Amino acid sequence: MDLTTRYLGLTLPSPIVASASPLNARLETLKALQGYGAGAVVLPSVFEEQFWHEQHILDQLIGNGAESFGEAQSFFPAQAAFTTDSGNQVALAEKAAATLEIPVIASLNGTTDSGWTDLARDFQDAGVAAIELNVFLLPTDLTVPGAEVEQRTLDVVAAVCDTVQIPVAVKIGPYFSAPGHMAQRIVAAGAAGVVLFNRFYQPDIDPATLSVVPSLDLSTHAEMRLPLLWIGVLAGRTKGSLAATTGVEGPEDVVRYLLAGADVAMTTSALLRHGPGHMAVLVQGLKDWLAARGLTSPDAVRGRLSHGALADPEAYERANYIKVMQGYGRA
Ligand SMILES: Cc1cc2nc3c(=O)[nH]c(=O)nc-3n(C[C@H](O)[C@H](O)[C@H](O)COP(=O)(O)O)c2cc1C
Repeated sequence: MDLTTRYLGLTLPSPIVASASPLNARLETLKALQGYGAGAVVLPSVFEEQFWHEQHILDQLIGNGAESFGEAQSFFPAQAAFTTDSGNQVALAEKAAATLEIPVIASLNGTTDSGWTDLARDFQDAGVAAIELNVFLLPTDLTVPGAEVEQRTLDVVAAVCDTVQIPVAVKIGPYFSAPGHMAQRIVAAGAAGVVLFNRFYQPDIDPATLSVVPSLDLSTHAEMRLPLLWIGVLAGRTKGSLAATTGVEGPEDVVRYLLAGADVAMTTSALLRHGPGHMAVLVQGLKDWLAARGLTSPDAVRGRLSHGALADPEAYERANYIKVMQGYGRA
C-alpha cells in the first residue's frame, strides 16, 4: 500500500503528521515517529514572547557588559556563543533535518511581523522543509475590530513568506467571521497551505480558589467536527494545501479528514495519550481501511465527501442543520 502524499509541495511517505507539541522536542522521539510511519513532524513552536524575552535578556547582557569595566565584560558570553532557547530549537531543527528522511517542519507562534523574519530565516538555514506559522491573536482589546485582526494576520504571513523560500503553512483558529475566505486570503498572501484549526488557550475558573487558572486539555474525537466542516468546504476550492488538526484518535478519524479533503491529518493528543507508537496504529489502520475496500492509495478517497464533490452539498449547509434540529429525537 503506497500512502505517498503531497503537502505544501513536499512529498511525504504518509498523510499522517505529528503536529507541534513538546513530544516532538527530542530527536529520539522524532526518529521513532518516522519509524512508525509519520509523513512529517512539526517541531514545538518557538513562541514570540519567548523570543522577545530572550532578546531582552540578550540586550541586558550586552548592555550590562558595555557599562561594566572591561575585565567584567569577559564574564558575559559573546553574543554569537550565547545559546538562547530559540537557539536550542534551531539546533534541534538542524539535527532533525539532517537525520530524518521525512520533512521536518519548524513552528513559529506569534502575533506580530517583527522578529519572525529573522527566526524564519534561521530555521530555513537549519534545513527544515517548511515553516508552520501559528498566528495566535487573542483580541481581548475591545477596541480592535475583526478587520484589523485579519490584516495583522495577513501582514505576519506576508512578511514571513517574503523572507523564506521554503513553503509556509499557516495554522489559524476558527473564530473568523468567514474562515474559508480568510484561508483563501492567507494563501493569496503567499502561504502554501493552511492548518485548521488552532485550539485557542481557554482559561478555566477554579471555584475552590476563586482564581482563573490556565488549562490545557487533550482533545477528544468530538472536537474534529469543526475542522472537518471547513476542510470539507475548502477542499478542491483553494490552491493551498489543507492540513486537519484536532481530534484524531483512531485511524477512522484520519479517513474522515481525508474524505473531507485534507491533504494530511495531524495528531498530538492521541500521541500524548498513547505514546509515539500510536502513530503506527494510525498508519496501519489507514492501510487496512483502504485495503478492505480494494483501494490502493489515499488519493482514492481524498475529497470524495468535500462540499465541491457532493452532487447535493446540503450536508454542509444550513438546510441540513435545520433538518437535524427538527429531526432530533424522532429516530
Ligand atoms: C501539550 C500540547 C502542546 C502543544 N504545543 C503546540 C505548539 O507548540 N505549537 C502549536 O502550534 N500547537 C501546539 N499544540 C497544538 C497541537 O499541535 C494540535 O494542533 C492540537 O492539540 C489539536 O490536535 P489534537 O487534537 O491531535 O491534539 C499543542 C497541543 C498540546 C496538547
